[in-house]
Amino acid sequence: MSQQSNSEKPWGGRFNAPTDAFVERFTASVQFDQRLASHDIKGSIAHAQMLADVEIITRDDCSKIVDGLTAIQSEISDGNFSWSIALEDVHMNIEHALVERIGDVGKKLHTARSRNDQVATDIRMFLREQIDVIVAGLETLMTELIDLAEREAATVMPGYTHLQTAQPISFGHHMLAWFEMLLRDRERFLDCRKRVNVMPLGAGALAGTSFPIDRSKCAESLGFDLLAENSLDAVSDRDFAIEFSAHGAMLMMHFSRMSEELVLWNSQQFSFIQLGDAFCTGSSMMPQKKNPDVPELVRGKSGRVFGNLMGLMTLMKSQPLAYNKDNQEDKEPLFDTVDTLIDCIKAFGDLIPSLTINATAMREATEKGFATATDLADYLVRSGLPFRDAHAVVGSAVRRAIDKNCDLSDLSIAQYRELYPAMTDEVYKVLDIDQSLNARDHVGGTAPAQVREACARARKRLNTGN
Ligand code: ARG
Repeated sequence: MSQQSNSEKPWGGRFNAPTDAFVERFTASVQFDQRLASHDIKGSIAHAQMLADVEIITRDDCSKIVDGLTAIQSEISDGNFSWSIALEDVHMNIEHALVERIGDVGKKLHTARSRNDQVATDIRMFLREQIDVIVAGLETLMTELIDLAEREAATVMPGYTHLQTAQPISFGHHMLAWFEMLLRDRERFLDCRKRVNVMPLGAGALAGTSFPIDRSKCAESLGFDLLAENSLDAVSDRDFAIEFSAHGAMLMMHFSRMSEELVLWNSQQFSFIQLGDAFCTGSSMMPQKKNPDVPELVRGKSGRVFGNLMGLMTLMKSQPLAYNKDNQEDKEPLFDTVDTLIDCIKAFGDLIPSLTINATAMREATEKGFATATDLADYLVRSGLPFRDAHAVVGSAVRRAIDKNCDLSDLSIAQYRELYPAMTDEVYKVLDIDQSLNARDHVGGTAPAQVREACARARKRLNTGN
């Protein structure tokens, strides 16, 4: 990137001495905000057309500006545009290139506009586009989870609380729990999009403009649903980006939990699933290793997304109205969060269909740990015992089984009768894992039939947005 003297800076007029070279680099944002170029150009084209519509500039001026901007867009897309640090940011680089290309007419583009409303508009256009990419990626991933849940509706696994075997559940049911988390994440992104898609243009530097602009025209051609109602707020607040980052942090929190489970299940100790070779790497020292790097990295990347949220909150905190240069610092964390979310959504979207499910290992694990002890207590309740007493009887049975190093179903009926004289053979049916699973037969329960119905509802909810 080249350096230039103040005479080339759009704001150079007021200054006698050139900007210090360090300050020039320190205050520049073009290194990262050039990413907003296409949005900046779209915004400028809409602005120029509006200026012509209300006769602030002529039609002829407008076409020269639009043609110039279109040519600059091609140059940028082809990688032939040369960005200059001395021109500070994406906005001034493009405006400068426009004047170089079409002459003085280009200088009319910035009438009734400031970089303050311009940059706020660019970020909002960028973010709504990225939200759409994120939502589409989440929808693909959610469809994969439903497919997997449907396939594995009758696959039994141990359900855990405190990471201790608790009760048998369907693996499909577990996948649908992930689906629910992501469905709420999608809802949060879509809701936040409403507040992102509000147009700041017209706010000028902070107080609006003395020109007879038509903000609705601009909003309509740029696809904004609403006009920002207050010029001070429009150029100043980045709460829409913070809100997005909070939803991103929540999504990463969910991803980190899902990743953690994949890492555990993929371990030799669990062996519930196997990640595809394409999603793992080896160790440079230990030849036997196949490490679950992808879920580990997703889990780790939650850190930077949480950090970006905290960074943006802190950047906004205590800023007086209206625009302050602090806000230039909003871009890097926001871009990083967007990129990280999109990568992690892709990582999960690619990884889920590649999973190998080891139903046998899951069933064997369910058979250990007295997973159906609650079913036995429930059975005793149905035969007339108060739940607390039933809990105590089964607790003693578990104690015996532990002492004898056997399962609850290995205790004889005589042994059960010592604990509860009215016990019948029914006990062995009640202890059966599939019976236990099928018994949880209500909306939200883990019975395979319910999981299949939940899958059908999930597909509908995915399509109808609730
Ligand atoms: N590069 C600036 C930003 O990202 C654009 C707005 C600058 N406005 C100003 N008056 N310095 O916030």
